[in-house]
Amino acid sequence: MSYQVLRVPAEATYSLRQQVLRPHQTLTQMRLAGDEDADTGFLAAVDADGTVLATASVRREACPWQPGRIDGWRLRGMATAPDRQRQGVGGRVLAATVTHVEEHGGGLLWCNARTPAQTLYERAGLVVYGDEWLDPVIGPHVHMWREVAAAG
Ligand SMILES: CC(C)(COP(=O)(O)OP(=O)(O)OC[C@H]1O[C@@H](n2cnc3c(N)ncnc32)[C@H](O)[C@@H]1OP(=O)(O)O)[C@@H](O)C(=O)NCCC(=O)NCCS
Repeated sequence: MSYQVLRVPAEATYSLRQQVLRPHQTLTQMRLAGDEDADTGFLAAVDADGTVLATASVRREACPWQPGRIDGWRLRGMATAPDRQRQGVGGRVLAATVTHVEEHGGGLLWCNARTPAQTLYERAGLVVYGDEWLDPVIGPHVHMWREVAAAG
C-alpha cells in the first residue's frame, strides 16, 4: 500500500472522520473551533488516488488539567478507514502531528483518547492522566498527554 502523510485542508478530513468517529453527526458538524487557525494542522495519509486513508488534527488549546500552561496542543479526530486499520497508518499520522508541534515551538500535547486506542498513543509517548470516564454516546475515554520539544 503506497501513501504519503501530508498536511491537508480541514475539509479533506470531514468525510472519513464522520464515517469512522461520528456517524451520528452531519458533515457540517465535523467543523470545530480553531480549524481555521494558522497553527492548526490537519495531517492525513493520502494514497496515489488522493483517497484519505487516515487523519488527525492538532491545534493550540489549553490542557484542562494544566490550565496555567500557555503551550497546550490538542490532538483530535484520529481516524483510519476501517479496511486500513491496524497496518500502522494511524501511527504514522500521529507521528506527523508530533512533528507539527515540534515545528511550531513544541509544548504540551494532550488528547481525550478512546480507551481502545490507548496503546496507539502510548507508542507515541503519551501517558494517561487521571481516571477513565464514560462519554454516554461514544464510550470510555482517558486523558493522555506528553511533552514535545521544539524542533532544532
Ligand atoms: C484508532 C485508529 C485511528 C488507529 O489507526 P490505525 O491505523 O489502526 O493505527 P495503527 O495500525 O498505527 O495502530 C494500531 C492501534 O490503533 C488502535 N486501534 C486499532 N483498531 C482500533 C479500533 N477499531 N478502535 C480503536 N482503536 C483501535 C489500537 O491502539 C492499536 O494498537 P494495538 O494493536 O496495540 O491494540 C483507528 O483504529 C480508528 O480509526 N479507530 C476507530 C476510531 C477511533 O477509535 N479513533 C481514536 C479516537 S481517540
